[in-house]
Amino acid sequence: MRCDHTSAWPQLQAHAQGFAGFDLRTAFANDAQRAQAFSQSAPHVFADLSKNHVDAATQALLLALAQQTGLAAHRDAMFRGEHINVTEDRAVMHWLLRQPAGSLQGALAEPLSQVHATLNAMLGYAEQVRADAQITDVVNIGIGGSDLGPQMAVLALQDFVMPGKRFHFVSNVDGHELASVLQGLKAESTLFLVASKTFTTIETMTNARSALAWFHGQGGQEVARHFAALTTNVSAAAEMGITTTFGFWDWVGGRYSMWSAIGLPVAIAIGAQGFKDLLAGAHAMDQHFQAAPLESNLPVRLGLLDVWYRNFLHYTSRSIAPYHSALRRVPAYLQQLEMESNGKRVDRAGQALPYGTSPVLWGEPGTNGQHAYFQMLHQGTDIVPMEFIAVKKPTHHLKDHHELLLANVIAQAQALMLGQSDAGGHKHFTGNRPSTFLLLDELTPASLGALIALQEHRVFVSGAVWGINSFDQWGVELGKVLAKDIHARIVSGDASGLDASTAALLSRIR
Ligand code: F6P
Repeated sequence: MRCDHTSAWPQLQAHAQGFAGFDLRTAFANDAQRAQAFSQSAPHVFADLSKNHVDAATQALLLALAQQTGLAAHRDAMFRGEHINVTEDRAVMHWLLRQPAGSLQGALAEPLSQVHATLNAMLGYAEQVRADAQITDVVNIGIGGSDLGPQMAVLALQDFVMPGKRFHFVSNVDGHELASVLQGLKAESTLFLVASKTFTTIETMTNARSALAWFHGQGGQEVARHFAALTTNVSAAAEMGITTTFGFWDWVGGRYSMWSAIGLPVAIAIGAQGFKDLLAGAHAMDQHFQAAPLESNLPVRLGLLDVWYRNFLHYTSRSIAPYHSALRRVPAYLQQLEMESNGKRVDRAGQALPYGTSPVLWGEPGTNGQHAYFQMLHQGTDIVPMEFIAVKKPTHHLKDHHELLLANVIAQAQALMLGQSDAGGHKHFTGNRPSTFLLLDELTPASLGALIALQEHRVFVSGAVWGINSFDQWGVELGKVLAKDIHARIVSGDASGLDASTAALLSRIR
């Protein structure tokens, strides 16, 4: 049943009205067990949810909402390989990419064995590239899900990256990006990975063609050795002259694809075993999501909190603050994951929705954000739920830095909640501002895998409750079509039939 037709929905609305007086400081004062009751452990991730605007009644009503909207059945349908991506008539099986070999019977046994055959080929190739001292630079050409995941992961796992190889990520059609990367490269020591699920994306095709032209222009030989394509469209890659290919399947969404051949730069960077550890961490989270009761299931608790904030307390954004500089691309990664998945205005049957869906996600690493936009978080007029991500153990040996970093992240969560009332006027902090605190013991391939799978599943949860298809992205198509038309007009100068503003811009650009 759609969420707004359940009995829990009006109950949550009524509950939210009575919630205006909720105060975190009072909630803690009245309940000595609050920190424990609103904490949740999951594989590799500990979550303190206690500084959120929720009480036991909220949790109970949200669980009722989950039950009445059939969340568990929808989750199980995904894990059975049903075509829950209804608008594209596709299964949603990124989780299968991290499933251990031979662990499934029935209809999924065959796709799983294909997954492992491809994984083994890709990991074998990754090891070959690692052992090839002549290749010093790996350039990933891809955009969206074919860029953000591998880029985020290579950065996050920089302590595990083999010395002697540099990794570059080119996504934008803006030639300044590719040109500046090419500037420092030599054809004979470069491997280009052309990553595109569809192998039709204009940015990636343009960059790949320019990279090929540059390679030949530099006297490069052996395209098969210096270019590999990561795609579901192997024939299109062959048409471009790229014959070294690693495939995947239409049931892997672009923004869910870092576990597939799209993860090749990560596998080259951290090695076959590291990549297997990444998959194992994600798989552990898959198992938690499938098996833990809803009330102690971390993705479920986070996803339901997202629904509560969006639809009942009307908080329209969430800010992500990773307190670890290696996690600095995580906010960008999560933006695509959440906003491309859940930025939808119709339900799965195509009916317009009378309620909000995806919040706006944004953020920067701490402590940098503190010296930029945290002012607004502490004293602005809007409430922005924060999501802090911290890592207990550092991997460097610089004295004091990590203690200071951790002190800051804890202090920010505390300051948002406690506020400051003994100073008036401009120095007054209202406090009572919500935050979630995610803590990893250490940043490893396994813990990163678990963290990202956690985020995938929490997006699934809110999308399922909203009754939307989280796995298509029709909203990106219109701009692509219009850009094609405008491109032709930039060349020809034809402004006929255009609206006045667009025509004026076109003539100014020409
Ligand atoms: O235009 C949006 C999108 O389709 C994303 O969903 C995807 O991750 C990105 O473009 C890149 O697509 P591809 O991997 O097919 O080049």
